[in-house]
Amino acid sequence: MNWHGVFERNSMILLIGILIMVSIGGLVQLAPLFYLENTIEEVEGVRPYTPLELMGRRLYVREGCYVCHSQMVRPLRDEVERYGHYSLAAESMYDHPFQWGSKRTGPDLARVGGKYSDEWHRDHFANPRDVVPESVMPPYAFLADAELELNELETIMGTHRIVGVPYNDEMIEAAQSDIAAQLDPFSPDYDAFQARYPGAVMRDFDGDPDRVTELDAMIAYLQALGTMVDFDEYEADAPENLR
Ligand code: HEC
Repeated sequence: MNWHGVFERNSMILLIGILIMVSIGGLVQLAPLFYLENTIEEVEGVRPYTPLELMGRRLYVREGCYVCHSQMVRPLRDEVERYGHYSLAAESMYDHPFQWGSKRTGPDLARVGGKYSDEWHRDHFANPRDVVPESVMPPYAFLADAELELNELETIMGTHRIVGVPYNDEMIEAAQSDIAAQLDPFSPDYDAFQARYPGAVMRDFDGDPDRVTELDAMIAYLQALGTMVDFDEYEADAPENLR
């Protein structure tokens, strides 16, 4: 029997045939997703933000830094050569809201951690033109004067827990003291803090050890960006043209 002819001559039969095929294809693609806990491949080194970094991240969103900066290195040659290994899904798995994007009036910031000193960031926020004469970034000098508001810290961490960030009770209880701990490299809580947030940088970020400012939080956050994954492990697996 000539099945082709049947389908080609009757548009209704062709339509039903198409619907059946698309449904099977759709099921094969979609059904497994309902049974997976997580579609993000876990990557060693990725940890939730420390309370100070988390507060810095909120300031980043509050100030609209995303209007000019993205945090996503795309797998394109020019980006990989400029910023390093392309972004992995796991790197932003604790980002709520995420900061991907393509609006780049300024450079991508996904890997800015450790690129500059804290002093550079302080000068840059006070007046970007002092360090990059052709910069069009606005100054954020007020961050250095503004006391960091911590009233809602525990609630904010709790909210992140609801959407899947693994903050446990201990982390939330210690949140306020962890802010002070991270700002003091000689903190008596050093070991406990490092156990909660392995590898987090601990030092006074804004250059004024007597105060906890918004600048402390912002620089702590920026210095953590892109520093959690050891990319030497991944470079070897990457396709030749993206290494
Ligand atoms: C009007 C657009 C604009 C806004 C808004 C903006 N920036 Fe920028 N930013 C730039 C430009 C352009 C540069 C590149 C020149 C320079 O270094 O100042 C830059 C550079 C930077 C750099 C250095 C990046 C590098 O790799 O050299 C950092 C860090 C940075 N911005 C952080 C921020 C933060 C944090 C905010 C929000 C508080 C912010 N920016 C808001 C435009 C902007």
